[in-house]
Amino acid sequence: MQTDIGLVSTVVARSSLSFIDGEKGVLEYVGYDIDDLARNSTFEETTFLLWHQRLPSHSELADFTARVQSNYDLSDAMWDMIVSLPRDASPMHALRTLTSALALEDPNADDPSEEANERKSLAMLAKMPALIAGFDRHRKGLDLVRPDTSSSIAESFLYMLTGEKPTQRMARAMDICLILHADHGFNASTFASLVTISTLSDMYSAVTTAIGTLKGPLHGGANQGVMFMLQEIDGIENAESFIMDKLTRKDKVMGFGHRVYKSVDPRATYLKTFAEGIAQDTGNIDLFNISKRIEEIMDREVGAKGIYPNVDFYSATTYFSLGLDLDLFTPLFAMSRVSGWTAHCLEYLEDNRLIRPRCDYVGPHAKEYVDISQR
Ligand code: SDX
Repeated sequence: MQTDIGLVSTVVARSSLSFIDGEKGVLEYVGYDIDDLARNSTFEETTFLLWHQRLPSHSELADFTARVQSNYDLSDAMWDMIVSLPRDASPMHALRTLTSALALEDPNADDPSEEANERKSLAMLAKMPALIAGFDRHRKGLDLVRPDTSSSIAESFLYMLTGEKPTQRMARAMDICLILHADHGFNASTFASLVTISTLSDMYSAVTTAIGTLKGPLHGGANQGVMFMLQEIDGIENAESFIMDKLTRKDKVMGFGHRVYKSVDPRATYLKTFAEGIAQDTGNIDLFNISKRIEEIMDREVGAKGIYPNVDFYSATTYFSLGLDLDLFTPLFAMSRVSGWTAHCLEYLEDNRLIRPRCDYVGPHAKEYVDISQR
């Protein structure tokens, strides 16, 4: 038996979905480079690619998009549940709770067939934007905005969030962020969803597991942490001392480092260019310049250790520039990654094997039981 704490170098299954070359900084979804997909694809098309392991024809994409749009809206009971939640609840707690609640109104929630699992995956993909936007409007005391079933997931989400139709540039920015966050191999939240589905539990339970796992600051919660850091630095002249203090204390700098990438995360490379343009357009260029300064300092101090910006570092500036509240950054990550979580669950179920690792027992043996009156 090999002990591999944190499963750093353990391969637990084969997959045809995401290829990551951590040394060269390469990410492909089913063989398509992430840069090509970000430039040319849409989140809907990327989701089809991950679920069916091929790009759709024009008519297939039209049918798929129509099915997703027809599933955007929530039942009255779900809208009522949203407005019954405490307004000061964390959006990730709300999203995990509401996504899990979708199972309560699905009479076939436990149907294990591939067709049923695809239907449940599509329902969660289509409805998570409304769950997130609806809770945000509720907590702000604003009227709920129903989804726009004639537009893309990205457009409809921004519309439900703000009550106004987004500009094409904003909608495209959101769409690209959804593409970039859709899948990433056996990251912690995807692996967690596989542990759940490998017991032949249901797809709603697998996605609920994944949302809870993504929430952690070492994983999907890092983008929010990056923004808090940028706001705490509050001026490019403070960046050097702030970062050096963190490194001296051996604190992790949010948005840097990765278990697999030992070069720059290609998603960060794409987002950096993107973030600059959006920040320029929205008057947030100072924030972007602080990010660039932090990257220079980190490259000088820890670049040789293979610690580079990851996807969360520049997505923070992008989301902030798009007007998202900081605590919506991770829910946004979840509404994109639900496509990857469900894709991996569908793929794993094709040749399912219960995931049940061993542990190296280091506790005592042969202890004599002593009655409580003697303890
Ligand atoms: C995501 O897995 C995925 O694919 C995830 C993801 C996806 O798409 O699903 O890519 C999304 O989660 C990106 C990562 C977001 N998290 C953060 O930005 C949080 C900050 N990053 C670190 O916590 C860390 O880099 C991890 C958790 C991401 C990876 O850590 P590892 O692989 O467990 O490595 P480690 O913590 O053992 O660090 C190795 C060394 C240590 O120094 P030494 O003790 O060897 O001297 O590198 C140092 C660490 O101190 N280090 C950092 C650092 N990350 C690692 N030092 C300062 N700042 C950092 N961010």
